[in-house]
Amino acid sequence: MTTSSTAFPDDALIDSLVALAVQLATTAGTLVRDGRPDQVLVAGTKSSPIDVVTTMDTDSELLLRRLIGEARPADGILGEEGDAVAGTSGLTWVVDPIDGTVNYLYGLPSYSVSVAVVAGEPDPATWVPIAGCVYRVLDGATYTAGRGRGAYLDGRRIAVNDAHPLSHSLVSTGFGYTTERRRAQGAVVAALLPLVRDIRRIGSAALDLCAVASGNLDLHYERGLKPWDLAAGELIALEAGAVVTGLHGSRATEQMTVAGPAASVAALVGLLEALGADEGP
Ligand code: IPD
Ligand code: CA
Ligand code: CA
Repeated sequence: MTTSSTAFPDDALIDSLVALAVQLATTAGTLVRDGRPDQVLVAGTKSSPIDVVTTMDTDSELLLRRLIGEARPADGILGEEGDAVAGTSGLTWVVDPIDGTVNYLYGLPSYSVSVAVVAGEPDPATWVPIAGCVYRVLDGATYTAGRGRGAYLDGRRIAVNDAHPLSHSLVSTGFGYTTERRRAQGAVVAALLPLVRDIRRIGSAALDLCAVASGNLDLHYERGLKPWDLAAGELIALEAGAVVTGLHGSRATEQMTVAGPAASVAALVGLLEALGADEGP
């Protein structure tokens, strides 16, 4: 693994990385939108027969990798559909070429391209997200954030909702692709449903986190998020004033991610811990 002693990015570099993240996400998003055939075909499967990949997931990631290589050849790249590429600059791009592939497959609108750049070792346990863009492909909504620079939707500053009691909180979540994981997740959501305003399952974790950031949802929680699902949306939510955390005091990881206003997150974390939502398959 390549390391670097490069200094932490200053504000000018952060702003230029945000601008590049927007350029990358919108360029890939345009390919994804304009190249969508009337009938999208499944090109392959991953963790289970319903965890699908389309040709466009691969094409979008290849485009992102080429553009990153041209613009920032010393940076590393971690993407869902390819091998990790080590860099020498201390920065790594973390990309999800389509977040919401099942929605893309069915022609449902909630899918996005997620592009983040992180500083530090290329390891989600220690890296620091620096800049990110989540581009909602169909309507062009563009969520952005730079570390310490705020979160924006189409250039307008966004903020999380004030904390409400759980009983008045709109909560989104997502489910994994294996039967055993889903059985456990179903039990957790069944216990939560009577306690909250309602539950949403949007189908793009990056958009869930952005919806928390813009106040269109109060809370998101999910087990099983990969670094490319999380990196940009986590930064956007944080910069919008959210707490983004795991359970039992750990940071947000694949084990569990909970995002929202601090007091609401504290209440939801308590419930999820009591339900053992980060345990089992
Ligand atoms: C999925 C979406 C979904 C989440 C899944 C992810 P993909 O990403 O973010 O909302 O619940 O865990 O795998 O496969 O569409 O990139
Ligand atoms: Ca994803
Ligand atoms: Ca994806």
